[in-house]
Amino acid sequence: MPDGLKTGGQEKLRRSTSEDDITAAVLARFSATPDPRLKQIILGLIKHLHAFVKEVELTEAEWFQAIEILTEAGKMCSDKRQEFILFSDTLGASMVVDLIGHRKPEGATESTVFGPFHRLGSPDMPPGGNIAHRDTVGVPTLVAGRVLDLDGKPIAGALLDVWQTQSNGLYDSQDAGVAGLHMRGKFTTDTEGRYLIRTVRPVNYPIPSDGPVGAMLKATGRHPWRPAHIHFVVMADGYEAVTTHIFDRTDEYLESDAVFAVKDSLICDFVRHATPTPEAATLGISGPMLTAEFDFVLKPAGAAAQVDVLDAQRRLAALGARAN
Ligand code: BEZ
Ligand code: FE
Repeated sequence: MPDGLKTGGQEKLRRSTSEDDITAAVLARFSATPDPRLKQIILGLIKHLHAFVKEVELTEAEWFQAIEILTEAGKMCSDKRQEFILFSDTLGASMVVDLIGHRKPEGATESTVFGPFHRLGSPDMPPGGNIAHRDTVGVPTLVAGRVLDLDGKPIAGALLDVWQTQSNGLYDSQDAGVAGLHMRGKFTTDTEGRYLIRTVRPVNYPIPSDGPVGAMLKATGRHPWRPAHIHFVVMADGYEAVTTHIFDRTDEYLESDAVFAVKDSLICDFVRHATPTPEAATLGISGPMLTAEFDFVLKPAGAAAQVDVLDAQRRLAALGARAN
């Protein structure tokens, strides 16, 4: 407690405070926060926020500009656009949170950013179901593999929630020509833990740059591109769900992903075949195609309750829908 701020249980108003006094006074005002974790977070936030303002000697004009940017970001958010996730991702904050939360992979599949383009309600698909049924341009691709536990045993009945851009680099929600859901599906593993997804080759694409995040990237000399990838949330009863991607090994943006999400273990070979594999032929694929193999390994659910990413997504989507 800073000197002179409390006397006899009452806060004493200081009329002229120094830069350091004000930080101490704000910390003192929050120091009775009952929830210990909230207290740790809010006190840490104040310390770092004040230190940041002092370090860069933020001007009033810059402070107003920051408020303007955040206001604009809020106004852009809807059930189809989440500018704050974009800020978090492009500033690397999402990956710091991810890395802290998953410090010891223990052989389990590594996680990466969730991103802003997941949508609820994607359809249940049979093995080999085509998530790209309206994409007639992309190269047909089969992604196959197993969902395993840490001992390598197959997990039957695991659910894979999959999403990807179309071959034009747009998610369905960004493409005015596409009504409803496209490039999305939920797949369930069979008794051997196997899954099989039909799609088109993932392409690299720029993240949305027509808002404040785009302005930030431009002003700081950064490009908005993400390497080609497919998104997954893989979940099974009794296991920790993993939010992840698989990336195309040949992509030119693996080293400079706009959202810092590439991990070596998630890079995958998309193998070209001049003629369809027998499995592809049975699915009606003709002509050149690609196959990719990736096994997901889940760790057992821990004792601590996990934040359910899809639950968080449900709340964000509801908030976004109210903004429409
Ligand atoms: C995505 O891969 O969908 C994505 C992730 C972070 C920011 C923007 C897009
Ligand atoms: Fe993506």
